[in-house]
Amino acid sequence: MSEWPSYRHPVLTHKSLKLLQDKLASKDSGITELSITLDLKQTEDLITLDHDKQVFIIGDYEIKIPGSFDPSNPGCYFIHEGDIYPISVFSEDTNMYYKLVPTKHGRPILRISATQMHKKPFLDFIERRRPRGLILDAGTGLGYSAILVSEYANQVTTVEWDYNVIEVAAHNPHSWKLFESENITLLNEDITELIKTFDDNSFDNIIHDGGMPKSSGQFFSQAHANELYRVLKPRGHVYFYLPKKGLKTGRDFGLEQIKRMIKSGFKTQIRDVEGSYAYFVKK
Ligand SMILES: C[S@@+](CC[C@H](N)C(=O)[O-])C[C@H]1O[C@@H](n2cnc3c(N)ncnc32)[C@H](O)[C@@H]1O
Repeated sequence: MSEWPSYRHPVLTHKSLKLLQDKLASKDSGITELSITLDLKQTEDLITLDHDKQVFIIGDYEIKIPGSFDPSNPGCYFIHEGDIYPISVFSEDTNMYYKLVPTKHGRPILRISATQMHKKPFLDFIERRRPRGLILDAGTGLGYSAILVSEYANQVTTVEWDYNVIEVAAHNPHSWKLFESENITLLNEDITELIKTFDDNSFDNIIHDGGMPKSSGQFFSQAHANELYRVLKPRGHVYFYLPKKGLKTGRDFGLEQIKRMIKSGFKTQIRDVEGSYAYFVKK
């Protein structure tokens, strides 16, 4: 089990806060109740509205919606000791802005500056294949791939180098299992360095999703591809997220990475250009 926090705060979206704002602005008086989700559509809770005081109540706390709240700006908010905070952070270290963005089906996505980390086809492919055994999940993000495979794998080691991402995930109700599952170990490291410390043939399968090349260090290098080959067991698979970078301008970045993987000794079994991924086996 990881030693990371899972905050388990109530979480609202801009839409649910707007709903509460509208209800409080209605002509009702006294106390009413409203059924609402506080964990991004996983469960429903009954919360109390006090129209006279213009607050909603969760547990012991009376919560006022701040005048600065902008319902036209999509975002998620957590509630801590009666105050409402956006789940977003700007880091001076990385010069990037991290934000949890709600979606209509409930599970939010992570936006790092302009890049939206949205991976449904890739996750669907992993789910269909159900990788088992010991898994390396390189690039944790919100932990969706790690959580998915933890359902049928023995042990998942997931590696995220950016602490800001871990902080955002810790506030996301759909990431809670990342911090609480017995068979997930979360490490705050650069995988391209950490991998050098792993023994040969350590993993049955590898999930490899670093997002965009410009912000993932040596993730897409030949040296790292060689390390992936070394630490994977024979006949093990790599699920590799390959961004569509360059496709429109005639440079197929994904194909360049496939060539690096082949040079390391891998065989390509599937490339799905539309779904942005490839599937490799160690011969
Ligand atoms: C698209 S997200 C991963 C999404 C994740 N697979 C999921 O299902 O939620 C990519 C993550 O990889 C991380 N990353 C990029 N380069 C890395 C590196 N060299 N070492 C560790 N993590 C890295 C990024 O910070 C980012 O959070």
